[in-house]
Amino acid sequence: MIVQGQPYRTVSQDGPEVRLIDQPLLPHRFQVVSLHHHTQTARAISEMVVRGAGAIGATAAAGMAQAALEAPEVGFHDYLAEAARTLSGTRPTAQNLFWAIGRVLDAVAGEAPRHAREAAVAEARAVADEDAAACEAIGRHGAPLIRHGARVSTHCNAGWLAFVDWGSALSPLYRAQREGRRAFVWVDETRPRSQGARLTAWELAQEGVDCAIIADNAAGALMARGEVDLVITGADRVAANGDVANKIGTYSSAAVARLLGIPFYVALPSSTLDLSCPSGAEIPIEERSQDEVLYTWGWSDEGRFVRVRTAPPGARARNLAFDVTPGAWITGLITERGIFPATSEGVRQAAAAPQA
Ligand code: MRU
Repeated sequence: MIVQGQPYRTVSQDGPEVRLIDQPLLPHRFQVVSLHHHTQTARAISEMVVRGAGAIGATAAAGMAQAALEAPEVGFHDYLAEAARTLSGTRPTAQNLFWAIGRVLDAVAGEAPRHAREAAVAEARAVADEDAAACEAIGRHGAPLIRHGARVSTHCNAGWLAFVDWGSALSPLYRAQREGRRAFVWVDETRPRSQGARLTAWELAQEGVDCAIIADNAAGALMARGEVDLVITGADRVAANGDVANKIGTYSSAAVARLLGIPFYVALPSSTLDLSCPSGAEIPIEERSQDEVLYTWGWSDEGRFVRVRTAPPGARARNLAFDVTPGAWITGLITERGIFPATSEGVRQAAAAPQA
């Protein structure tokens, strides 16, 4: 990704230092934070300094590598097991988090500390590099779906800020644009944290992709007016039967798209597939603080980061962070290995196929 003319990755690591783009400050300030201990890295995931399935996976792997560099000679593997518990406890829904931590644990299993440290750092780098490569390939497979002038609807942020580079749902748009086909994107605001309005709109602007932000409750009306040709969202976890957990609001968008016969695609790297989860009903759904619903926040005209309460004093809220869309409503899963049906057979094929 290019930000103000300079290449960046959402997550990077240099020895014990993990660097992240500080996402709550976007779009008003672009700042990179440095974290020097795996517990700081875990806090950055739970507080959503970094967010998005692939990005939190790569960050968790980097946190595990930090833990390997911190761990004492005696009790090395116990220290790593405890770090894995801490990092796993940060957010429950995105499969990439658990997959990435498992990758590092597998890489160090049975190794003496000196080799294990090197193996952990190398594995964390591989997780990040593979995420970027997979997202680039998702773009190649998805780009043919985007014709010149297409009006595409998306939800949340499933671009390069949500991964190490390229992104999932937005990668086909970036690829199509490089191939000379320009699309227009309806960006769902994505309350309560406004990942669409704050992050996707900013990210698309960096890439020169034309877009407009809409209130979440406008998406259905625009589809009914014939102003949406195609929907592409990301995924936080895909169950073995093709059901997809993604940011809250995806279900409503998919329901309207199905009703109106609008193609609804979900883009994801295979690291988001969870074959051990039989259906969407078994996917753990994160519930976050009610304050995210009761308040909104942003930059004041005086240049201060402020939080304002929109709800009446004493009002309560419920804050489900994700919902589950049935595989039967999904036109196809765009992966780094090609496009597959959102069925048990399609998920099995996507999990087994070599990268194309
Ligand atoms: O709560 P977030 O911002 O971490 O949500 C995850 C997401 O970014 C979206 O659900 C996205 O569509 C999944 S693809 C990274």
